[in-house]
Amino acid sequence: MSNTEQTLSIIKPDAVERNLENEIKEMFKNNGFSILKEKKIKIEKSEAEKFYKVHETKPFYNDLCEYLSSGPIVVMTLEKENAILGNRDLMGATNPKDAKEGTIRKKYGISIDKNSVHGSDSPENAKIEIDFFFKD
Ligand code: CMP
Repeated sequence: MSNTEQTLSIIKPDAVERNLENEIKEMFKNNGFSILKEKKIKIEKSEAEKFYKVHETKPFYNDLCEYLSSGPIVVMTLEKENAILGNRDLMGATNPKDAKEGTIRKKYGISIDKNSVHGSDSPENAKIEIDFFFKD
């Protein structure tokens, strides 16, 4: 049975700053993802705090929200068969030093904070995260 899904992807400030936007989009397209919607924006820290609310009790929450709001980001909805898991595979491990060869974070990630991309981790969160940026 087919399972076409949409997931939210963010190209984070470290990657936008290094002009990696097009290369990363090519990796998505070469791996069969369609980019349905996209916009380049800069968000306030208060918006980052809402977006990352699931992490609010974590010790890295404040730095994470400072970082996501520190410069322009590209937010996209990606579509593909099993897009959520597929995007997580393509991104690689959260910490670039643990990411496998061929993944976005292995190729471009600098550190666990500056790990170049974010992707939704479940169908529930994909819906919440897509609505967060694209509800009109
Ligand atoms: P992301 O997939 O955007 O989701 C939350 C982010 O928190 C994660 O990528 C990392 O960039 C960041 N982060 C910082 N420290 C940690 C940590 N110890 N564990 C998990 N995520 C972390």
